[in-house]
Amino acid sequence: MDVTTARSAREVLGSEFTINKLPIKNRIVLGPMSVLRPTEDGRPSAQTIAFFKRRAAGGVGLIIVGGSVATERAWRESPFSPNLRFDKDEFVADLKRLTDAVHEYDTPVFAQLFPSFGRMGVPRDGHQISAASPKPVNLGVAGLPDHVYVPGGRITPPPHEATVAEIKGIEADVVAAARRAKAAGFDGLEIGAHMCYFYSSFLSPLANQRTDEYGGSAENRARALRDAVAAVRAEVGPDFPIGVRMSVNDHMPGGQGPEGWAEVAAHIVPGGVDYIALSDGNYESLRENLPTPSGNMLAHGEPQAFRKAVGDGVRLFLSSTPDPQQAATAIAAGHADATMLARQLLADPDYPTKVVEGRESEIVWCDQANSCMRRLMLNVPVHCHKNPEMGREDPHAKQANLGQNLAVWAAGNPVLMGLADKAARLATKRKR
Ligand SMILES: Cc1cc2nc3c(=O)[nH]c(=O)nc-3n(C[C@H](O)[C@H](O)[C@H](O)COP(=O)(O)O)c2cc1C
Ligand code: SF4
Repeated sequence: MDVTTARSAREVLGSEFTINKLPIKNRIVLGPMSVLRPTEDGRPSAQTIAFFKRRAAGGVGLIIVGGSVATERAWRESPFSPNLRFDKDEFVADLKRLTDAVHEYDTPVFAQLFPSFGRMGVPRDGHQISAASPKPVNLGVAGLPDHVYVPGGRITPPPHEATVAEIKGIEADVVAAARRAKAAGFDGLEIGAHMCYFYSSFLSPLANQRTDEYGGSAENRARALRDAVAAVRAEVGPDFPIGVRMSVNDHMPGGQGPEGWAEVAAHIVPGGVDYIALSDGNYESLRENLPTPSGNMLAHGEPQAFRKAVGDGVRLFLSSTPDPQQAATAIAAGHADATMLARQLLADPDYPTKVVEGRESEIVWCDQANSCMRRLMLNVPVHCHKNPEMGREDPHAKQANLGQNLAVWAAGNPVLMGLADKAARLATKRKR
């Protein structure tokens, strides 16, 4: 079917497309989310697998497994742990159990690989964190999502400037992780290069102040990620789908807008990119990353700028557009190729089937009140208050206790958080 002539959401979003040579049955993608509750040593648990089986049963066209680390460094410095591990061969057999389970539903599954957390890394056990330049993250300085508060604000420890040997070391580790992802039966992979993480810190002048071949022009800022993509491409071969998850707009003074980000993307694509999963904002503009209204990205012109820069040959995944008609119209207009949804598919795993079957009135809508994100930030098992089954797909999964649930509630209460903010700021002032 030619999607440019299609009208209804069910026709457009229900139409097949390909990534590299891989057919995808519809245009609804499960976005990567660290809600997986792997085992303490980084392997898929029964809950991890049950969570994905339930999303596959709900009819999603493609699953992207989030919260996975490509390197030992990323495992060590992760701000939200435990993560699924791809950094040693010993994890391949367990990862294969995950892909086998998803494949029972004829659903392709990709691995999102975190090379290093860069500016968001947590320095532990005397190890340093590194990024393009020694710039900390001022969390949420340009706005926090609805019902998310950081009392007193938070500035991360400054990373040290990555040496060329470190850049090349991370690249080699990502290549090894890509080999493991393929061996474990994943149908494709994406490199997480967004949100202040390691590669993201190179891509925008906001975080990259280098004067060597990795800083300055858009081509130089793209170099580290483009080289990593090219090295992964050489490892996995020409037919294995490779994506990058990239920010599309800093939403910060001194940062890049959509055109700047798209220009950098155009320099990365020749490394061998099949798709770009678009991600709005970063930790400093977290409000844009977890927006409340559907279609923010389209309103900002971000997919449109990327399409112009990278052409039709690269698949683009739109974010945060749960309104099916809005997503379908954008896809039909050629701004994107698929709609990638995160929170909406926590709230209703059957959203894809309901959209494709024209049963939109039955959709359970995510309310964007972000208690799932507060849980992630507090390191509490993630549940969704609109979907009592979420986080309990495996009936034996460990649940959050009363104290943790109270903490999540308090962390979303504007009055309590206002008081906590005042107290935290006063305490900082006294210390000075
Ligand atoms: C609980 C939670 C965990 C997330 N974990 C990840 C992750 O591991 N990797 C990633 O790239 N994005 C992660 N995200 C961001 C989502 O993929 C997505 O970009 C964001 O939620 C906006 O999309 P939405 O409006 O469809 O929710 C997470 C989001 C939530 C709510
Ligand atoms: S907890 Fe559920 S309803 Fe609330 S924002 Fe998260 S996914 Fe949406």
